[in-house]
Amino acid sequence: MGVERTLSIIKPDATRRNLTGKINARLEDSGLKIIAQKRLHLTRGQAEKFYEVHKERPFYNDLVEFMISGPVVVQVLEADGAVALNRKVMGETNPANAAEGTIRRDFAESIEANSVHGSDSAENAQNEIRFFFSETEIVG
Ligand code: CMP
Repeated sequence: MGVERTLSIIKPDATRRNLTGKINARLEDSGLKIIAQKRLHLTRGQAEKFYEVHKERPFYNDLVEFMISGPVVVQVLEADGAVALNRKVMGETNPANAAEGTIRRDFAESIEANSVHGSDSAENAQNEIRFFFSETEIVG
């Protein structure tokens, strides 16, 4: 698989509860290296564009509202097989289905306020990383 990068977002429900450090510890303890990170308040335009693939889904408008309801922390994570590793550490989208010891099981409030986002493929990871970061902001 080799060294890979993935995009992670610590969502507004988690920043609101001051969980950035606890979530970062979970990521680092699993072997993911945080090689870029910034705290942002997304504009509506950014949130709409980032989640454009979900535009036709019934939850799209709520998701956009939620993602602009407070600050987020966007991050680039690096590890061998980072995309799959991060998805394992996050757990299932719906915290009710997330395995014990995962971020979403332990911290998420609901399927929408589920504390973290992670890219779902290496190709999407590249696009999502480019959406938020320039090469000079990523220090591997
Ligand atoms: P995320 O990985 O950020 O990608 C899309 C988000 O939509 C997802 O996490 C959830 O937080 C949110 N969402 C809200 N409702 C649903 C749903 N019914 N199915 C899937 N995702 C949902």
